[in-house]
Amino acid sequence: MAICKARRVTSIFWYPGHELILTDIVRAENCYLYDSAGKRYVDLESGVWCTCIGHGNPRIGNVIARRFSTIGHTGFCYASEIVEEAAQEILSLLDFEGGRCVFLCSGSEAVEFGVRIAGSLIDRPMMLTMTDSYFGAYGSARERQEDEWHCFDWSVCADCPESKECHESCEHLASIPFEEIGGFLFEPGSSSGLVRFPPEKLVRGIAEKMWTNDGLLLVNEVTTGVGRTGKWFGYEHYGISPDIAAIGKGIGNGYPVSVAAFSRRVLERLGDGPVNYAQSHQNDPLGAAVALEVIRVIREDGLIERGREIAAMLADGLENLRRRTGRIKELRGRGLMIAIELEDDDGNSFAAAAHRALVRRGFVLGLRPGTSVFRLDPSLTVDFGDIEKFLQAFEGVLDGSGTDAAAD
Ligand SMILES: Cc1ncc(COP(=O)(O)O)c(C=O)c1O
Repeated sequence: MAICKARRVTSIFWYPGHELILTDIVRAENCYLYDSAGKRYVDLESGVWCTCIGHGNPRIGNVIARRFSTIGHTGFCYASEIVEEAAQEILSLLDFEGGRCVFLCSGSEAVEFGVRIAGSLIDRPMMLTMTDSYFGAYGSARERQEDEWHCFDWSVCADCPESKECHESCEHLASIPFEEIGGFLFEPGSSSGLVRFPPEKLVRGIAEKMWTNDGLLLVNEVTTGVGRTGKWFGYEHYGISPDIAAIGKGIGNGYPVSVAAFSRRVLERLGDGPVNYAQSHQNDPLGAAVALEVIRVIREDGLIERGREIAAMLADGLENLRRRTGRIKELRGRGLMIAIELEDDDGNSFAAAAHRALVRRGFVLGLRPGTSVFRLDPSLTVDFGDIEKFLQAFEGVLDGSGTDAAAD
């Protein structure tokens, strides 16, 4: 049965894998999506985890309108002050005083920019990363050529009784060829994967190795940044200090701006030489102004703290559902980056039906293709009451009274 008026999507390449369930969304406001018949849905995914302060945030709308009608785009030989102002704000959030950043257009681009700079500074052949990390749609970090990337599988560490200690003598850790590694590209929580968070001790150990070997620590904050995990950045949960940070998604709240930022330590190594990278919207005042306003809204409205409160409520509610329904195998999460893994079922058919039933009831959440893993990444501005309603609807779906069949 169609959920809302179904339109065929025939003229565009659409992202494969995910089921395109809602084809008729005409308006969005904060965490709500509306179809042409006026039906309201709560967007618990923030689009693609981007609208961290809600769809159509009026302050962001005003900045875009004002900036675009004054100066939204610059050429290579003239600049606008707002870009410097936004850069300083971001560097200060990262504790990168004396560093430098560049405004780009997507998370993929920010990661790739960071990797490119790191590659130009290190004289070792390889970069290290985790097997389950995702870094974007293109570039070296996506391709991960074997001679350039060492991919560490930390899944064994997840079950290791020593993972809180993570001894240097561990054979698995010793399998990393540190003498050939010049940088560690770390995603502090695999959001595109199954939402898992590598052990703190392991990450700290690798980061220290980078530091003592004169290597670089790059963090991919495209998803985990801008308040998603209950702190400004996901790396803060690990007590590490990165050299390079890639920020995307939430920093534009749906507007396509991203940032690659570099610490003073990187700049000292870079020297005064040019960084040869150019694309038409690099350091556009429009994107920089949006990023700056997003930061101001989060700070002035206390949204990181608010996100933590919502996250605590959601975690409690989901834990109750896990105990009551027996349908949930595992809950994983940090702040408002949450995965709900259902008990195994035949070909994940229950999960698919439950997903459709929830959308019918007006709740949009992610279902990772081919799995029984739901993902929730709501905005920091999501309403407490909507979370309560979602938990009720989810309970109905899990106990069987709310599947499509029961609902019809
Ligand atoms: C962890 C992570 N890094 C990088 C990217 C790439 O960002 P973008 O899609 O904005 O290019 C994504 C996108 O989902 C992501 O989840």
